[in-house]
Amino acid sequence: KNVIYLMGCAAVMILAASCAGRSKDSTAQKTVPEFVLTYAENQAEDYPTTQGAYKFAELVYEQTGGRVEIQVNAGGVLGDEKTVIEQLQFGGVDFARVSLSPLAEFVPKLNVLQMPYLYTGREHMWKVLEGPIGTDFMNSFGGSSLVPLSWYDAGARNFYSTAGPIESLDDMKGLKIRVQESELMMDTIQALGATPVPMAFGDVYSGLQTGEIDGAENNWPSYESTRHYEVARYFTLDEHTRVPELQLAAQSTWDKLPEEYRNIIRDCAQKSALYERELWDEREKTSEDRVRRAGCVVTELDAGEKERFQEAAAPMYEKYCSEYVDIIDDIMDAGRQ
Ligand code: GCU
Repeated sequence: KNVIYLMGCAAVMILAASCAGRSKDSTAQKTVPEFVLTYAENQAEDYPTTQGAYKFAELVYEQTGGRVEIQVNAGGVLGDEKTVIEQLQFGGVDFARVSLSPLAEFVPKLNVLQMPYLYTGREHMWKVLEGPIGTDFMNSFGGSSLVPLSWYDAGARNFYSTAGPIESLDDMKGLKIRVQESELMMDTIQALGATPVPMAFGDVYSGLQTGEIDGAENNWPSYESTRHYEVARYFTLDEHTRVPELQLAAQSTWDKLPEEYRNIIRDCAQKSALYERELWDEREKTSEDRVRRAGCVVTELDAGEKERFQEAAAPMYEKYCSEYVDIIDDIMDAGRQ
């Protein structure tokens, strides 16, 4: 009897010890985060900018030893870009990646970096953003309640339409073209002879489908990822603008974070940006390939026609950059070197 009793006690003790061991281990493994922060992203899960956001969150979590957890909300679930920027301004959202077009409505100087036909190509844009000009822009967010962290790539934007190909400037006449919620974008489309229709990104597919708009403009990956190509088959490689993007923090969130975490966050934002750029290069190619294989009609403009587009958009520089002529000159110089 005694033996059975002793065996029973021993079993209970072993079980208790192993439970204690396990609970000790699990507390050691899982640190309770000091900060759980939200991140807004309006693209799909597999999109380069979203993957960049996940990389950012992962690096921050690792480097703060689990003290800062960033929860990425993709697919625009936290609202369209304009709403997200407004939420950032009062800390309703802690981080976001947004396009410069809607952002320039809040920080107007940013329009300079997305002027039509400004850059000769991707290298030129990156030379500007990564050089002293880009740093100056990062430093001009005072009073906006927004903290810029790192630049993301979004390629060049091109027109696409539902009814037929845009082969010349004359073909733009009378078309209702969706634009981002940006005054510069509206004015540019008007200058090219079309009618701008500002609309949130998430509404464009149905806008094209119902005929509310005749076309839109975007980069290859967005055209493909949103499936706009299914309803607007005609894509014109005019590259009228390159619109950089930014990862941002809410100033009110930033002010709550200790310096040590801020440094880590800046560093990780930068690393995630390099990662995003690699993914971007690949995705531009695969997206182009996918839509071409799906039977979209891709039109290339000849040099003369490109020039006509460029000349038509030139007055935008007087309207939006008269205070920044020197910066525009510096940007253009960087493209010639
Ligand atoms: C790009 C950009 C988005 C933006 C969209 C738009 O796809 O990455 O952030 O919302 O353009 O045209 O609105």
